[in-house]
Amino acid sequence: MVDATRTITTPIYYVNGRPHLGHAYTTTICDVWARFQRAAGQDVFFLTGTDEHGQKVEESAREQGMTPKALADLNAAEFQRIMGLFGLSNDAFIRTTDPAHERQVQTFVQRLIDSGDVYLGTFEGWYDPGQEEYYTQTKARECDFKSPISGRPLEKATEENFYFRLSAYQERLEALYDQQPGFVRPEARRNEMLGRLREGLQDVPISRTNFTWGIPVPGHEAHVIYVWIDALFNYITALDLADSDATQAKYWPATYHIVGKEILWFHAVIWPALLMALKIDLPSCVYAHSFWISEGQKMSKSLGNFVDLERLQSCIDTYGRDALRWYLATNGPLGATDADFTMDQFHDVYTTDLVNTFGNCASRVSAMINKYFDGALPEDCPGSLGSIDLQRVCLEQTASVTTAMEAFDLGAACSSAMQIVRKVDAFINETEPFKKAKDPDQLASLQGILYRCAESIRIASALLEPVMPETMQRLTQAWQLPEGGPLEKACRWGGLKAGQSIEKVALFPRAER
Ligand code: MSP
Repeated sequence: MVDATRTITTPIYYVNGRPHLGHAYTTTICDVWARFQRAAGQDVFFLTGTDEHGQKVEESAREQGMTPKALADLNAAEFQRIMGLFGLSNDAFIRTTDPAHERQVQTFVQRLIDSGDVYLGTFEGWYDPGQEEYYTQTKARECDFKSPISGRPLEKATEENFYFRLSAYQERLEALYDQQPGFVRPEARRNEMLGRLREGLQDVPISRTNFTWGIPVPGHEAHVIYVWIDALFNYITALDLADSDATQAKYWPATYHIVGKEILWFHAVIWPALLMALKIDLPSCVYAHSFWISEGQKMSKSLGNFVDLERLQSCIDTYGRDALRWYLATNGPLGATDADFTMDQFHDVYTTDLVNTFGNCASRVSAMINKYFDGALPEDCPGSLGSIDLQRVCLEQTASVTTAMEAFDLGAACSSAMQIVRKVDAFINETEPFKKAKDPDQLASLQGILYRCAESIRIASALLEPVMPETMQRLTQAWQLPEGGPLEKACRWGGLKAGQSIEKVALFPRAER
């Protein structure tokens, strides 16, 4: 069967905090992937949004003398505005207060009640109000009855709740992990989840009665659906999957749910079990990235190393939005270890990759075409020129970028695309066009060299456009590159035509540290 659609999701973000580097990161890497897949001709659905119910929102609204809905409206709008700064191309923005979401969550919960997967029972355990997360006695003891996130004491909780029969899915989940080893990535995170899974699953409470800001359990209005269950359903309510005539149904199952490591359990265990209970297909992969720390330490307001919006905005002001996207995509914590956001490293990466490599190469090649051929692209010549076959390099690197993107290995994809540019530099150093320009007998070679360099840069720019859309658009305009079209065609050798005008470009200005 042809894999016709591609769906990628970010977590939906809480509206009671301000967006920061972490949110910008997850959303940006999803954006890069979504843009690449679209360029590759896929039918893509890229979803992000906000998580707006729960006790915390209710409390902060009360403190501010507002209704929870008014606070959620305000913050969701602010969140959307801010995320716009990063140049995102999401196809939908879901809010858990959308009436269509609320209605569908009730439909799904009703189906779970009807099938016996959700039942009324009594909960005795511990609650972390900061995280809105429940712990069993054993887990609470392990973390010394303190929140592993905030360090604040857990609260004892005894109440009648609706429960999801998670324990019934133990074997099916183990079989899933077994049969679909790529379901949770990277491998180290999969092993972590598998370890916890094998400790044995207990049923989880999915409703609360001590506040009202949430979706009521159908037929039991005193019970509000636990915010995490409400939130997880966003991935399918955004596609109207509860409705039999859902026009967006073709976008399910998701190709990738991208999440931070701290919320993996919900996505890697509870979510697939809920889907199994509802007899809905499972996503192909839940990818959990690690965390950004900053200047060597955990981000904290008091340490002054918090990468908040103001800091991100100042990076954009100095280096440009594409530079930030490049840094996040190439140096982020996609593996099992945390990554350190440092201004020194940011500056060095910008200077090495963008100023000295891509920017310099494009400027060098366009300057020579202007100097020797008045800005009109010369034609290629027959035969080989030196030891580097740029056409072959482009072919190989295009294949590597595609494979790496498919596997969500953004770092490898970026470095393969940049490898083309490095090879162009090596080719120029080896073939020395500036010397050939002095010898009229070498005209054909000079023409061929410059054609091949420009053509390789064009192909690299098509591959890099998902990461740095603004800059690559500028190049497209300056060199009048053929726009759009499926990536596979765009990366085919021979797109540039002899005689077309190649303007001199300066894409990445040198920046002060
Ligand atoms: N609302 C829940 C998610 C529900 S999804 C069904 C939530 N929201 S959140 O606002 O706290 O966002 C958490 C996400 O922000 C993380 O999973 C991660 O994507 C991102 N990050 C927050 N801090 C981060 C870092 N320091 N580093 C990288 N990303 C992190 O949890």
